[in-house]
Amino acid sequence: MSPLTLEELHQNARQALDDMAAASSKEALEQIRVRFLGRKGLITQALRSLGSLPAEVRPQFGQEANRLKKLLEVHLEEAQDRLKKAALAAEAASLDVTLPGRRLDQGRLHPITRITREICDIFIRMGFQIAEGPEIETDYYNFEALNIPKDHPARDMQDTFYISDNVVLRTHTSPIQVRVMEQQQPPVRVIAPGKTFRRDSDLTHTPMFHQVEGLLVDQGVSFADLKGVLTLFVQEMFGSDVSLRFRPSFFPFTEPSAEVDIQCVICGGSGCRVCSQTGWLEILGSGMVDPAVFGFVNYDPEVYTGFAFGMGIERIAMLKYGINDLRLFFENDLRFLRQF
Ligand code: DAH
Repeated sequence: MSPLTLEELHQNARQALDDMAAASSKEALEQIRVRFLGRKGLITQALRSLGSLPAEVRPQFGQEANRLKKLLEVHLEEAQDRLKKAALAAEAASLDVTLPGRRLDQGRLHPITRITREICDIFIRMGFQIAEGPEIETDYYNFEALNIPKDHPARDMQDTFYISDNVVLRTHTSPIQVRVMEQQQPPVRVIAPGKTFRRDSDLTHTPMFHQVEGLLVDQGVSFADLKGVLTLFVQEMFGSDVSLRFRPSFFPFTEPSAEVDIQCVICGGSGCRVCSQTGWLEILGSGMVDPAVFGFVNYDPEVYTGFAFGMGIERIAMLKYGINDLRLFFENDLRFLRQF
């Protein structure tokens, strides 16, 4: 190809500028770029051909070609910008901003979480603090230190998942009592929620469920304190007009022990299927901490007394919300969960 004259160079540049101004699409613009500024484009070629020009015109031609190249690049960028803005404007014009937006579902707390917090809050208002412990627990904390030695018949009360001879999935939240007392001296006031596990699965049992444990130890704590605190709890949880009763019971880690029943929330006490015609529903176990347990944590039973209690959270939630099927808590059916 014979070298361009200066005049032809200018013509080309003018042509390029006109085409760019007229380009109405990204693709058209790209073609123009290739034609003039691409590797084999007219301007690029002109610069390449410098060597074959007579020496006296070479500097001027070179300067001009470079200037035009830069000029075209600037205009190309402007043209690209213009097309981009036009495309955006077209898109915006086709949007109906009055259409309702897509609804984002709002998450909410699972009923078990809600009840757990509600229970803990009641005790926090009475000066208790939250405590936690591991779900995988040693035999020592889950049983031994709670006065349940190996081969003790009370171990049959709890169908245990064993991980190894001495490691279990905790069957209750009571081991947290022991861990707390090992860590601190009285006065102790803790409330400890968490997951618990038993080899049990039927209509009214799931292998994983939740409990809350409570413990209060100080000088001069009596059974009257236990009754006062738990009565206040029941009234806060179920309403001040619900009656309750303390019924003698047995737990290896408390002596004496009592279970707390509330008046049946379904029939109001006259007797129905839910309360097995008794008019009462059991909601928690409790008692005065057995001196043997204090022995394991080196608390002097001559100086300190205390009470403990434990309850199943699913059970409290079922009674509070009138839910009759335990499985609803674990199926995660949104139609159920959205009601809370
Ligand atoms: N750990 C018992 C259970 O799982 C509940 C319980 C009863 C806890 C009496 C206590 C208590 O702290 O004093 O059935």
